[in-house]
Amino acid sequence: APLDASLLKITHVETLKPVPTPGTYGFGDIKTDYMLVMEYTAGSGWSAPEIKPYGPLALDPASNCLQYCTNVFEGMKAFIGPDGKARMFRADQNMTRLVSSAERMGLPTFDPDALLKCITALVSIERRWIPAENGHSLYIRPTMIGTKASIRVGKSDSALLYTLVTPVGPYFPISPAIPHPTLAGVSLLAISEHVRSWPGGTGGYKLGLNYSPGFVPQTLAAQEGYDQVLWCLDVGKKPEEGAVISEAGAMNFFAVLANEGSDGGITIVTPPLDGTILPGITRDSALQLLRAHADSLSTSSTSPFSSPLHSGSGPISVIERPLSLSELAQAAQAGRLLECFGTGTAVLVVAIERIGYYPLSKTTAVPIDSEHTENTPKITDIVMKGGLKGLGQVGKA
Ligand code: COI
Repeated sequence: APLDASLLKITHVETLKPVPTPGTYGFGDIKTDYMLVMEYTAGSGWSAPEIKPYGPLALDPASNCLQYCTNVFEGMKAFIGPDGKARMFRADQNMTRLVSSAERMGLPTFDPDALLKCITALVSIERRWIPAENGHSLYIRPTMIGTKASIRVGKSDSALLYTLVTPVGPYFPISPAIPHPTLAGVSLLAISEHVRSWPGGTGGYKLGLNYSPGFVPQTLAAQEGYDQVLWCLDVGKKPEEGAVISEAGAMNFFAVLANEGSDGGITIVTPPLDGTILPGITRDSALQLLRAHADSLSTSSTSPFSSPLHSGSGPISVIERPLSLSELAQAAQAGRLLECFGTGTAVLVVAIERIGYYPLSKTTAVPIDSEHTENTPKITDIVMKGGLKGLGQVGKA
């Protein structure tokens, strides 16, 4: 049977949990009252979807997801708008991407509109959990796992598709010294010894296994005093070309460069969707907004946008192309690296304050488990010219 939202049943909880006060939590830990669950089995297809009290799942220890990581997910958000209405941000895009991830993992697929109807019902029933405060939202995590109870290596012909929601504050802790979330910035440590994705790999899908191998490199970056890893890839590159930048932690990466020459313009660059980059929905929104802004500038002499970094008179170009770490370092040296920022559902838009890298003449990273010695290359920092004037963790989409 296909997934049918009209069969949705709701089992109510007996006692509702207290909703925590925004400001007392960060990202990802709060459990709400309900979850949405539906099951696929080889013989019968999709079960009737159910919204039921949040709680543990029962899984066979041999389950395909536990043995072979057939885990795919989405990250999406609901916000309370200035008009007091609750809205999900571009949720149809998340549904399409979840189908694509499920297909890549050999998991059963489903009608994306039917799932979205069920998720909308879940968000409605959980409406009191959507925080209205700046920088807060209800994060929605649709998750699909292969449940075939066999350790045989192969596709799972049964699956569980469930969705949990969790109220979230800013992903990166904001110092009380910073007056507004938009002024928070994160630091990145560039590495290429460990890579997030590679040509022909799965980096263009949202799979659980794209994230867990990053946990140890992330710890190394933290030990060196950096918030996140800047994932770089030098497979197939000549050393002088430098490793190309792929993503920053769990965010897509953008750089803002002043044009060479004197046209007063800027170029905003982000790596192309070549299969190694997650097709981020916030990335796509940023590109659409930037391009619309660039177009409006080219047809009107007055800019609605004023920034100490851009006079409003020079052209703005928005380009998806490979961006190497050495290009970034050279641009910074020449005073042309104005800003870098990361985008993602969890982080929204976050300014990048500085990027550390190991000297490019040597290996670009120290082995993760090596003892640091005098010979360990020192980290050099790339610092943005513009500081954090215009971009940051934007509170509301
Ligand atoms: C998101 O931005 O929603 C992500 O999925 C990144 C991370 C929290 C897994």
